[in-house]
Amino acid sequence: MTSGSIFDETRTAPAADARPATRPLAGTVALVTGASSGIGAASAGMLAAHGAAALAARRTDRLTALAADIQGQGGTALVLESDITDERQATAAVDRTVNELGRLDTLVNNAGVMLLGPVVDAPLSEWQRMVEINVLGLLYCAHAALPHLLRAAETGPRRVADMVNISSVAGRVARGGRGVYNLTKHGIGAFSESLRQEVTGRHVRVSLVEPGATATELAGHNRAEVLETMRTQVTGIEPMQAKDVADAIAYIVTRPRHVAVNEILIRPTEQE
Ligand SMILES: NC(=O)c1ccc[n+]([C@@H]2O[C@H](COP(=O)([O-])OP(=O)(O)OC[C@H]3O[C@@H](n4cnc5c(N)ncnc54)[C@H](OP(=O)(O)O)[C@@H]3O)[C@@H](O)[C@H]2O)c1
Repeated sequence: MTSGSIFDETRTAPAADARPATRPLAGTVALVTGASSGIGAASAGMLAAHGAAALAARRTDRLTALAADIQGQGGTALVLESDITDERQATAAVDRTVNELGRLDTLVNNAGVMLLGPVVDAPLSEWQRMVEINVLGLLYCAHAALPHLLRAAETGPRRVADMVNISSVAGRVARGGRGVYNLTKHGIGAFSESLRQEVTGRHVRVSLVEPGATATELAGHNRAEVLETMRTQVTGIEPMQAKDVADAIAYIVTRPRHVAVNEILIRPTEQE
């Protein structure tokens, strides 16, 4: 599945090197979707170093390795096998987090796929997959998590809660050859801003992170001809590492209660 990626990074990201001396998220729990690789794995490791983390994805071998890494550093991690395109599994991931770790303060809606190529003659199954994971999966998790986030903001140790939705530069700028990926990520931006306005007064912060090219497995799921086109487009650019984006996510959720970072657009320096 991962071979042929232009930004191949097949190793699961390690947890943060050590737990920081001061832990701004102490006593809180974060759920990260798509925690088995790339940005999600790096973010889960980083958030677990500050508090506790629940790791959701389909590949449990990856999640178990990451959880062992986190636990080896004295952190807390819960492995959740979950295909978030199934509403019941998405809801169960949230419920198990709350039942087994006691609460939910932070949701990182990170799981996603990017299947590019021209609209004309595109396989419909690729569009269905992107909408099911990037849009519906995110909505199922958001819907299940919101009551818990609102409760955490009211009664939790920090009196604030966070939903961080991972969009993309593709959620800001539409380009030929990526129409449905653009659609899903623009949709996440619109949903996030609307929800932000609804719940920010109750101290649930809704944030949008829009990464540019990052070295993960994401591109590797594309058809060979699409990968070839992508290779020619990104040649010579030093991509970001998953940890660079995880840093942005950790920055957002560790702000004090009165500060909401609504949006971070983060690109490799050389990306136009
Ligand atoms: N890499 C980039 O250049 C880049 C740029 C902009 C935005 N992003 C966004 O960043 C997010 C993370 O991507 P990444 O780059 O870290 O790619 P990645 O390494 O491919 O990670 C994607 C994650 O999503 C999970 N996932 C896929 N389908 C799922 C499903 N049905 N249910 C649950 N989990 C599922 C995968 O886990 P399993 O396969 O184990 O389920 C994996 O952990 C995505 O939303 C992507 O659009 C990435």
